[in-house]
Amino acid sequence: MNVIDLMNHHVSVRNFKGEPLSEKTKQKLLIAAHAGSSSNFVQATSIIEITDEQIRNEIAEISQSAAYVKQSGAFYIFIADLYRQATLLEAHHQSLAPIKNMESLLVGVVDTTIAAENMAVAAESLDLGICYIGGIRNDLSRIKELLHLPKYTLPLFGLTIGEPITKNGVKPRLPLKNFVSENQYNPDEFTDLKQYDQVMENYYLNRPSHPKKMDWSTSQLKFFADVKRPDVADFIQKQGFSLK
Ligand SMILES: Cc1cc2nc3c(=O)[nH]c(=O)nc-3n(C[C@H](O)[C@H](O)[C@H](O)COP(=O)(O)O)c2cc1C
Repeated sequence: MNVIDLMNHHVSVRNFKGEPLSEKTKQKLLIAAHAGSSSNFVQATSIIEITDEQIRNEIAEISQSAAYVKQSGAFYIFIADLYRQATLLEAHHQSLAPIKNMESLLVGVVDTTIAAENMAVAAESLDLGICYIGGIRNDLSRIKELLHLPKYTLPLFGLTIGEPITKNGVKPRLPLKNFVSENQYNPDEFTDLKQYDQVMENYYLNRPSHPKKMDWSTSQLKFFADVKRPDVADFIQKQGFSLK
């Protein structure tokens, strides 16, 4: 399968055989992760592989994705990381203000997400399945404790990787007309969700596991009915970022 076909066949896998990945496979995935682009070559990312069963179990509970976090062949936490630069700047008596601001945090988040998606695509190219685990942000303070994270780091998500037992069908994405425009933002097209709601309603009704009557707009109204993880901003500030 070429890379574009591979990407178009992406589905999250939540049902793994549980066989640990070989060291050779993990090496390949890590090399792919750190080959990604990086803003100003800051490389503001660290990856922690969770091999300790107790730590993995606790993160699994925190993320409310217990079964597949415990079962996967490898589990990585992706961390937006400016601690390297903080150490360097401190050693040279340079102000830390430039790494504390919102722009630097964004650089870390973007670099880290690129690394993770590189790893995800690499894993899928080896016929492995992946699932991101944003659920780690349910308790960032505990994740920080468990992983001994220093200031100027922010754990973003986990990535479970393993041999799939079963795979869901591909979830239809927004039509390109809702997603891409030319030269200017196109509010009319981007918010015209009628066609997509119909597609998603059919998808949800007919999918083999957990069929339900739901369309995308309704799912979004439900999801955004309350504020999620309101303590994230506090955590980020405690980690030394100014959010300004
Ligand atoms: C950053 C991020 C965090 C996610 N966190 C979780 C999670 O905690 N648990 C989970 O089951 N799926 C998680 N997902 C998977 C999404 O639910 C999934 O990608 C989405 O429903 C689309 O389905 P697909 O990946 O099968 O196409 C996450 C995805 C992303 C990108």
